[in-house]
Amino acid sequence: MILVAGSANLDFVVRVPHIPVPGETVLGRNLTFFPGGKGANQAVACARAGGVATDMLLALGNDWFAGPIEASLRDAGVRMHRVRVPEGRTGAAFISVSDDAENAITVAPGANNGLSAGDLPPMAPYSHLLLQLEIPMAVVTEYACAAKENGVKVVLNAAPAQGLPDDLLAAIDILIVNEGELAVVAKHNGDIASCLEHIDIPCTVVTLGHRGCCAIEGGSRVLQPGFSVQALDTTAAGDTFSGVLVAALSEGRSLVEAMQRANAAGALACTKPGAQFSIPGRNEVESFLRDGPPPRQSQIEDLRNYCGF
Ligand code: RIB
Repeated sequence: MILVAGSANLDFVVRVPHIPVPGETVLGRNLTFFPGGKGANQAVACARAGGVATDMLLALGNDWFAGPIEASLRDAGVRMHRVRVPEGRTGAAFISVSDDAENAITVAPGANNGLSAGDLPPMAPYSHLLLQLEIPMAVVTEYACAAKENGVKVVLNAAPAQGLPDDLLAAIDILIVNEGELAVVAKHNGDIASCLEHIDIPCTVVTLGHRGCCAIEGGSRVLQPGFSVQALDTTAAGDTFSGVLVAALSEGRSLVEAMQRANAAGALACTKPGAQFSIPGRNEVESFLRDGPPPRQSQIEDLRNYCGF
């Protein structure tokens, strides 16, 4: 069983012709709202991936923002450990999505900052704890250390990008980062291979958008080329990747297989609007993998060169 501990936000989304630069105003289209938050998105992705049960520890305010988030988690089959923060508003995110599917996100954490060390449920039922960085770093560190002490595998998606304290780094079994987050965690600028040399974690997986992903585990390097899709909204693609990766690993799949499923699910998430609404189910991912062409050798070589592997 998987425990996801982290943020839940209501996402306020507006589609814009382009992401505004500092000082610029752009005229967008209609405002829509979707359940989101990196933690809740990853919990939904784990649950939809199937194979293992998913629980989530989250904090919510006493406001209407909480309702759509709870409904979405419930519909996905996620069992909730809820902390109510009466004085805090449920987390919210303000998202601009451009016509070329990129996004810019500002998060108001609100109740997410109300989680504390004592809220972690007993670790006995869980094989994996999946964390992100939208709750306070000290709390992430305490959860990771408690899980490690109980023999639970600790997976951190280090998003949004922040440097990590040593005691957190020491507790992580699997780190999932994009290129920007990799540079921040590694405190190094260079190609992916050289950044990875600055990180001492048993397994690090790097997501590379449409290029795919790569990983290093115990000195072995893994490459998984991406899938080509018509992208509409990339919001939560990384969350989908993280959740599906952990679900596949906790079912006992190999890292290579887990990365392939996570890549496919992340690509599918880009084809629909919204965070949790866009996350595909197990059948959709499996038929996408079955029906699509296998990666070309040239894609693998391009990815190898890009990563410096
Ligand atoms: O990763 C996407 C998520 O980031 C959004 O759902 C938003 O809530 C922010 O947490």
